[in-house]
Amino acid sequence: MLIKKTCGDVTEFKAARTLLGRPVYITHFFYLDGLLIDTGPRHNAREVFEALRNLPLEKVVITHQHEDHTGNCNMLSREMGVPVYAHPETIRVMSSPPDIEIYRKIMWGDSPPAEAFPLGQSVSAGPYTLQAIHTGGHSKDHVCYYEPSNGWLFSGDLYLGENLTGFMIGENIVEHLTSLQKLIALKPSLLFCGLKGRLDNGTERLKRKYDCWWDLCTRVTDLYEAGKSHREIFSKVFGREILFYYFSQSNWGRRYMLRSIINNIEYFKAAQKKESLSGFRQNL
Ligand SMILES: [Fe+2]
Repeated sequence: MLIKKTCGDVTEFKAARTLLGRPVYITHFFYLDGLLIDTGPRHNAREVFEALRNLPLEKVVITHQHEDHTGNCNMLSREMGVPVYAHPETIRVMSSPPDIEIYRKIMWGDSPPAEAFPLGQSVSAGPYTLQAIHTGGHSKDHVCYYEPSNGWLFSGDLYLGENLTGFMIGENIVEHLTSLQKLIALKPSLLFCGLKGRLDNGTERLKRKYDCWWDLCTRVTDLYEAGKSHREIFSKVFGREILFYYFSQSNWGRRYMLRSIINNIEYFKAAQKKESLSGFRQNL
C-alpha cells in the first residue's frame, strides 16, 4: 500500500504492507520541491518507483539507517539516477547492511546495499533550505531536517509518539532526551513523523514526550536509589513486557528502555540534583 497525500508544498507518502486489507506498520516519507526525505520500505519499491517517476526528483536525504527508511535507496540511485545524502554512519551501514530479524524482513523487507554521499549542514529544496540536525537516541546516525521559515520538522523516528515505553536494542535514553531538547529549542510548528505523518502543535508534542520520559526516568532513578532490584523496578514502572518483544525475536522491548536508564543512572542522579537546585526543566 502506498498512499500519497498533499500537505501544502509537502507531499506525504504513507507506505505499508497490508494484512487482510489493513496496513500492518506504516512508514511515512516526504517530498518537497525536488527533495525526497527517506525512501520507504523495499516491499513498496514498485509503488514508490511509479509514484516518483513523474516527479522532478533531484536528491534524496535519509533520516537514519533502518530499512523502512533506506529500503529504496538502491533503486532510486541505480534505476532513477538520484543521488542519496546521509550521515557518515548511515552511509557506512547502507554500504554493507547487517542481516536483520525475520519480523523486519516480513514487515519492511531488507535494504539492499546502496551508495550515498555525506550530508552537509543544510540541504536545499527549491526555495527552501533545510537544516540537518544530528539527533541520536533512536539510532546513533539519526538526523532530523528542519525548515525554519515554516517551522517544519522532518523528524524521522525521533518522535513516534509521546508515551512509548519500549526501545529497540541499542537505543539510548540520554541521547534521546538531549535530541528532544535540541528540537524543542527550534520551536517547530509542524512535525512530519516517520510513523504518524503530518502532526500539528510540533513543539507541544515534543515537550510532552520529553516530560513523559523524564518522569519515567525519575521514577526509575528513585527506585534504584531506594535499593530496588531491576526486576522490582521493571514491575513497578513498566508492568509486564509487551508481546511484541517475543514477536520481534527479543529485538524490541520495555526491558531495553529500563536497561538504558540504568546504564545512565549517574546522569539521572546528577540531573535530578541539578533540577532540585535550579529548575532544570524551566528552560524548555
Ligand atoms: Fe527507525
